[in-house]
Amino acid sequence: MKILVTGGLGFIGSHTVVELVNAGYEPVIIDDLSNSSIKILDQLAKIIGYKPKFYKLDLCDEEAVNNFARQEPEIGGIIHFAAFKAVGESVKLPLKYYRNNFFSLINILNAYAGKALNFVFSSSCTVYGQPDVLPVTEDAPVKAAQSPYGNTKQIAEEILKDVITAGSKYKIISLRYFNPVGAHETALIGELPIGVPQNLVPFITQTAIGKREKLTVFGNQYNTPDGSNIRDYIHVVDLGKAHVAALKLAEKESFKGFDVFNIGTGTGTSVLEVIKAFEQTTGVKLNYQIGPARAGDVEQVWGDVTKSTNELNWKTELDVNVMMSSAWNWENYLAQNPL
Ligand code: WQD
Repeated sequence: MKILVTGGLGFIGSHTVVELVNAGYEPVIIDDLSNSSIKILDQLAKIIGYKPKFYKLDLCDEEAVNNFARQEPEIGGIIHFAAFKAVGESVKLPLKYYRNNFFSLINILNAYAGKALNFVFSSSCTVYGQPDVLPVTEDAPVKAAQSPYGNTKQIAEEILKDVITAGSKYKIISLRYFNPVGAHETALIGELPIGVPQNLVPFITQTAIGKREKLTVFGNQYNTPDGSNIRDYIHVVDLGKAHVAALKLAEKESFKGFDVFNIGTGTGTSVLEVIKAFEQTTGVKLNYQIGPARAGDVEQVWGDVTKSTNELNWKTELDVNVMMSSAWNWENYLAQNPL
């Protein structure tokens, strides 16, 4: 079955393309290359054995999206990653985020409306803000978004629910990711941050390889065991497999309408614990300092993944040590093969 993967050359998208092929699907990729490299297509070919079908397309261009749907009428499912996702940038440029993240979603939904397509949406634990109860379950209250980026994820889920209420034949699953990190075991694909990394793990590996002078730990005065804040880090390969599991669930006769799942490990890890795991796994001593807390950071969040385990028939297999070793292997690959 042909599966459309929007944003399929991105960090999570590319790893999901590999897992789709492993599961016997035929991925068709759309990407506008605004936050990815066309070279990832060649990297994917080295892993899956052929170059997947690729269209360079701005999903905000309604005519272009409708032309695509006419060219690819036999798409059986859609995994929609394409969106801007830098929290800090979204605060500075809210309209860029609202325009891109909503126009692209609406255009792709319209282009395949009327077909009983399985639709997997890339959402985020950001919708929970700082949960009142941890671990956070899917029925925890969606809190006022901490950023326009988080708001686009919350509103997108509302759009998807309204589409179902209006009687659409789509079958929709929204996956709320926690913190995706790591890289494929071949070290041929991984996270490709543009400019100075905003996220923790690429900053760690770039510091370890000498691209950055030192890592700043954003605060160690939090109300946590070691004072640094806590997240639910999940290996990006486990995350890719979760999308295949979501497609399989949507394909079942019994699945109707809309549902949402937490995609994490179910355990919290602090920043200082991640650093320790990196040093122990790689043998590389990390140069870091403690700095002030980062505005907008929630103190601690990790997921309750009971629903995903039971209903999605999926759970993570790779631990924080594999996350660190694979991220480090990828950083070393990049040092020899700049993409
Ligand atoms: C993780 C932890 C920082 C950098 C964001 C988005 C989320 C998702 C993932 C898109 C935090 C600390 C970080 C550094 C540090 N993005 N940190 N020094 O903020 O949990 O989540 O990215 O879907 O939606 O909100 O991820 O990797 O930026 O931070 O100490 O140089 O690492 O304070 O505790 P975050 P992150």
